[in-house]
Amino acid sequence: MVPKVAIVFYSLYGHIKSLAEAEKQGLKKAGIEADIYQVAETLPQEVLTMMHAPPKSDYPVVGARIMEKYDAFLFGIPTRTVIASLSTLTHHGLIYVPLGYAKSFAQLSNVSEVHGGSPWGAGTFAGGDGSRSPSALELELATIQGESFGNTISKVETRGTSKNVNDKAADSGHSGFESADKEGLCGLPSKCVVS
Ligand SMILES: Cc1cc2nc3c(=O)[nH]c(=O)nc-3n(C[C@H](O)[C@H](O)[C@H](O)COP(=O)(O)O)c2cc1C
Repeated sequence: MVPKVAIVFYSLYGHIKSLAEAEKQGLKKAGIEADIYQVAETLPQEVLTMMHAPPKSDYPVVGARIMEKYDAFLFGIPTRTVIASLSTLTHHGLIYVPLGYAKSFAQLSNVSEVHGGSPWGAGTFAGGDGSRSPSALELELATIQGESFGNTISKVETRGTSKNVNDKAADSGHSGFESADKEGLCGLPSKCVVS
C-alpha cells in the first residue's frame, strides 16, 4: 500500500516552502502524492510586519489529528537547531530516514558553489538578510531527498490509508489505544495495549 506522506514546514520568508515543494516533486517521482502543510504562525501580525515577512502561503495548517492520518513526515525547519528536533521525534518512536550520500554524492560534494544540504537532509542558505533564494542545486537536492525518502518508506509496511491503529486493534479484539481522547502527560495516550 502506498504510504501517506505529509510534508510539514514552517517558513517565514519562503525558503523552506520552496524546499518543501521540491521534496514533493521528488516524492512524486517515487510514486507518492504527498500533502503539504504549514505550522501555525505564533508571531503577532505587528511583529511580522516589522520583520518584513510576506503573507503566509495558502497551505493548510497542520494539527495533531491531521498528522494521525499519515504514515511518514518530512519536516522543514528554518533554523540551525534542526538536529535537536530529532530528540523529540525519538521520544515519539519515529524512525528517522537520512538523505545519505548514496543518491546525492555528486550534488553534496559539489564545491564549485556555496550550497546548503548535507547527508542529514536538504538545506539552503538564506543569507544574512534573507535575500538569497534556494539555488537550483539546493532544490535538486531536495528533490533527490523526496524521491529517496519515498523509495525507502515504500519498503515499510504502513498502516495504509483505509485503516488506522485503532481499527486494526478493534479487528483483532484488542483495544489498541484505549481512547484517542484520553490523553496523558505530553499528549500521549493515557493507556496503550500492545497487541
Ligand atoms: C524560528 C526561526 C529560527 C531561526 N533560527 C536561525 C538560526 O538559528 N540561525 C540562522 O542563521 N538563521 C536562523 N533563522 C533565520 C533563517 O535562516 C532565515 O529566516 C531563513 O529565511 C529561513 O527560511 P524561511 O525563509 O523559509 O523562513 C531563523 C528563522 C526562524 C523563522
